Amino acid sequence: MKIVIINASPRKTGATAKTLNEFAENLSARNGTEVKSINLSDYKLNFCLGCCGCYKTGVCHIDDDAEMISALIDSADGVIIGTPTYASNVSGQLKVLIDRGHFVIEQMLKNKYTIGVVTYENAEGGAALKVLKKLLIFSGAKRFDKLIVKLPFNSNPAVSGKIKRKSDKLYNSILKKKSAGFINSIIHFFVFNFGIKPFVLRKGDKYDGVKKHWERRNIW
Ligand SMILES: Cc1cc2nc3c(=O)[nH]c(=O)nc-3n(C[C@H](O)[C@H](O)[C@H](O)COP(=O)(O)O)c2cc1C
Repeated sequence: MKIVIINASPRKTGATAKTLNEFAENLSARNGTEVKSINLSDYKLNFCLGCCGCYKTGVCHIDDDAEMISALIDSADGVIIGTPTYASNVSGQLKVLIDRGHFVIEQMLKNKYTIGVVTYENAEGGAALKVLKKLLIFSGAKRFDKLIVKLPFNSNPAVSGKIKRKSDKLYNSILKKKSAGFINSIIHFFVFNFGIKPFVLRKGDKYDGVKKHWERRNIW
């Protein structure tokens, strides 16, 4: 089983990184896991230009690392995304990836087992988590788990027990191919069938690239 862990903090040794490293250590110790951890800040990610070309062609024409990161996510069974809270939201790095990636419309995370991790220092970590949760569920994740950690700047989160339990849960869910969580699958059903799908169909051949992604992921 392949797990991809994405640190969306610009700080590679900060609190989010430390939290995610503990997930990586726990999961790497399990049988048959391949864990790939990346720092978004190591990659070249430009702003989305809003050309909508990817909807037509299925790929973004900007020459940077966004397509490679999308392919990495696509190849995983489990995806853990961690972000610090910046001004009541996710980090800029993550927002750029969300805008550039093939997430909600293309159902990038269809059937992935996911965990959203948020660190914060004072307030509004819940607001950042809400953004991350919507991204994962609206993009088709089969399972969503979460970890929110309040901590002094750059400290090591004393939440090792929780991280261990959540790592084990993710591992077992993938191993046993657990079905989608009830509430989240209802939310996804309505968002996809009454929001995304009719919108894409109304757009006709302008969204051929999206439909190609859906075909490949057996979404229709
Ligand atoms: C630009 C900036 C904005 C921040 N905004 C918030 C915020 O709105 N609420 C909060 O509780 N912490 C905020 N913080 C603190 C970080 O969320 C917190 O320290 C986080 O754990 C840092 O993660 P890192 O060590 O992985 O970079 C902010 C920090 C920075 C640098």
